[in-house]
Amino acid sequence: MFKVLTLNNIAVEGLRRLPRERYEVASEIAHPDAILLRSQNMHDMEIPETVAAIGRAGAGTNNIPIEKMSARGVPVFNAPGANANAVKELVIAGLLLGARNLCAANRYVSELTESGAALSKAVEAGKKQYVGFELPGKTIGVIGLGAIGVEVANAALDLGMKVVGFDPKITVRNAWQLSSGVEHADTLDQLFQHADFVTCHVPLLDGTRGIVNQDRLALMNSGGVLINFARGGIVDDRAATAALDSGKLHAYVTDFPTRELLDHPKVVALPHLGASTGEAEANCAIMVAENVRDYLEK
Ligand code: MLT
Repeated sequence: MFKVLTLNNIAVEGLRRLPRERYEVASEIAHPDAILLRSQNMHDMEIPETVAAIGRAGAGTNNIPIEKMSARGVPVFNAPGANANAVKELVIAGLLLGARNLCAANRYVSELTESGAALSKAVEAGKKQYVGFELPGKTIGVIGLGAIGVEVANAALDLGMKVVGFDPKITVRNAWQLSSGVEHADTLDQLFQHADFVTCHVPLLDGTRGIVNQDRLALMNSGGVLINFARGGIVDDRAATAALDSGKLHAYVTDFPTRELLDHPKVVALPHLGASTGEAEANCAIMVAENVRDYLEK
C-alpha cells in the first residue's frame, strides 16, 4: 500500500487515478511515500525521509525545495500545460479589465445609492470617466513562451493585436505551436519597446526575479497595461506602482496582491485565480497523480 500526503485540496479526478486498494491518500498521514500539493509552501517544512516523489498540481514549483529534494534523489513532478487554457482565458479577461476600466467602473456603479430615473442619470453621467481603448492594432509583449505563453500569444493575435514574444529557451514543441504571426524579440528590452501591454509567463527563478523593472517599464508606450498571472516576484511592484502614478502604466492586473498594491486605485488584484477552473484543477491533478503513480509503481 502506498501512502500519499496531500497538502492542499487536490481535484477528485486526479485522486481517482490512485486506486483505493493500492493507495491511502490523506491530508494527515505518517511516513508518506509521496506528497501532492498546489500552493502550500514546503520550504520550511520537515519533509519525511520516506517521501520518494512530490507532485505539484500546477506549473510553478517555486514553493518546493527542488535542490534539496534533488540531492535526496526525490523527483518533483509538475503539470506543464495542464492549466494553460485557464490562464490564457484569464489573461484575455485581464486585457479587457485593464483596457476598459471595468473594475473601477463596477465600483462606481455598485456605490450608487439612487434608484429609478436618478439612477439612470447617474449611470449615464458616470460613464465618461471610464472610457477605454480597444485591442486590435495594439502591441502586446509576451514574456515566456512555454505552454501558457504560447496560448496567450496565439489568442492575442486572434484578437487583432500585434504580438511580440521573448523566450531564449523556447522548446521545439512550443515553437511548433506558436503562430508564425508572433514577432520574436531578441532581448527583454526589445519586447518592452513600444508595447501597449506586457504579460508575464515565466517561472519565478533567480534569473526572473524583478525582470519587470523601472527601466523596462519606461520603454513601454504611455498608458500601457501590465499583466502578471505568473508569480509575484517577477514584477518589481514598486516600479509598477510608480509607473501607474506617472501615467506610464494605465493599469496593473495581478494575481499576487500585496498591501501596497491593494491600496492603489489603478491596480486590479485577484486572489491567484489564474489556474482556478474546475477543468484546469482536474487536468493538473490527473497529470501529477499519473506521474507520481507511474514513478512509485515502476
Ligand atoms: C501554477 O503554478 O500553475 C498555478 O499557480 C497553479 C495553482 O493555482 O495552484
